Amino acid sequence: MIKEKVAQALNQQFNKEMFSAYFYLGMSAHSESIGMRGASHWFMAKFVEEQDHAMKIYRYVLEQGAEVELFSVDKPDQGWSGLSEMLERTLEHERTVTQSVNDLMDVAVEARDHATQIFLHWFVTEQIEEEATVGDLIARLKLVGGKDEGLYLMDNELEAIAARMNAATAAKITA
Ligand SMILES: [Fe+2]
Ligand SMILES: [Fe+2]
Repeated sequence: MIKEKVAQALNQQFNKEMFSAYFYLGMSAHSESIGMRGASHWFMAKFVEEQDHAMKIYRYVLEQGAEVELFSVDKPDQGWSGLSEMLERTLEHERTVTQSVNDLMDVAVEARDHATQIFLHWFVTEQIEEEATVGDLIARLKLVGGKDEGLYLMDNELEAIAARMNAATAAKITA
């Protein structure tokens, strides 16, 4: 059993993860519309990944005997100028998610809720990886020049990463 305050904070985080999914789905659509198939698949893989994060919280809240409360999902920004802007906004967004995971951890610490703290460790670690991966992609995009052939190379790279992410998801489902 978890305290009401902790359950509420978890439900808010569930909503943020669903928003993240939505945010990446918009970027996936935009990428496809500008012919960047690899980027589109990468953002789509992130869309799936974020729903998985949300569902981890959903499961945990129910297992702890609390109520799952669903809030409206905000409308994400759209109208990107290209891959570089989308990656920059992705990094910005992931940093705000890291902050909200930290805030959520504070709520669990204040409530002396050890189970929730342990549950949240996974999210803390995941955010390190999320920020590092996107930071690395931004650096590489700059390295290849960010347009023409550089953009094409980057799109292929994103296609390969997306394939690995999808394989990992499929392995998890069949496990
Ligand atoms: Fe997430
Ligand atoms: Fe994320």
